[in-house]
Amino acid sequence: MSKTSIPLPVPENVGKLYDQILKDEHEYDQFEKFNHQLHIGYWDDPSDQSVPMGEAVVRLTDLMIERLKVGAGDHVLDLGCGIGGPASQIVMNTGANVTGVSISEEQIKLAARLAANKGVAERAKFQRADAMQLPFEDESFDAVMALESILHMPSREQVLSEARRVLKPGGRLVLTDFFTRAPHNHDAELHPAIEGFCRVAMITMADVDDYAAMLHRVGLRVRELRDITEQTMDRTWRATLEIVALNDRPVPYDLNDLLGVEEFGCLLVAAERP
Ligand SMILES: C[S@@+](CC[C@H](N)C(=O)[O-])C[C@H]1O[C@@H](n2cnc3c(N)ncnc32)[C@H](O)[C@@H]1O
Repeated sequence: MSKTSIPLPVPENVGKLYDQILKDEHEYDQFEKFNHQLHIGYWDDPSDQSVPMGEAVVRLTDLMIERLKVGAGDHVLDLGCGIGGPASQIVMNTGANVTGVSISEEQIKLAARLAANKGVAERAKFQRADAMQLPFEDESFDAVMALESILHMPSREQVLSEARRVLKPGGRLVLTDFFTRAPHNHDAELHPAIEGFCRVAMITMADVDDYAAMLHRVGLRVRELRDITEQTMDRTWRATLEIVALNDRPVPYDLNDLLGVEEFGCLLVAAERP
């Protein structure tokens, strides 16, 4: 782990942070433009300027869904479901049923409303729960997805262990996570721009060198560990900055500080319960 003084996220506070953001109608409108996806975008060709953020966020969810390997009748747990864009996408792409959980009460309401609007309310259900202690039986899901959510949780290992517990044998876990990557030196302080962002966003960065070992420790078999930084981060910061500029509203953190900071990495992980 890098030397860092970033406090561990407190689930209740993360929930309040999202509640507060989403109660602001203007902020909600922004996420509507991004197809109700609350995460980074994925550009197959990061230099292709013709692909807007709204398409790139859906593309990342599609990449996750492909790896879940589910079909009609299967049951997927969406861990940290946001406002429900990804859950509705799973139902529509695969015919699977989805249970979405989030620590934010506001998100649960919005996700249920979205599923109803899209006509998938029978197959996509949402409830408030803390991923650190899931209110589900052992072996109750065919797959678990955690799209950009584990980074908000105080113990990755605990969440992975919970995901393994609720997965059926042979079931898949697919997630994205942020990590500090080379040229970051593990004995050095975290880059100040990353540290500032982590504090405001209530996240921590993963230790990539320990990721495979951590998955093994909780009893999961690694299927894929892929650095997707080049396809995601820089374009996401730039797309977000464009929106911020249009809004002309005060922001808690200046994303310009993160442009060109190569130590801010994003990881795509797929694992399986043996
Ligand atoms: C960046 S958003 C991603 C949302 C969604 N996966 C998406 O891609 O649109 C992070 C999500 O993690 C959820 N989250 C953070 N900590 C949590 C916890 N301890 N338990 C459950 N959900 C949590 C947040 O409420 C939010 O829904």
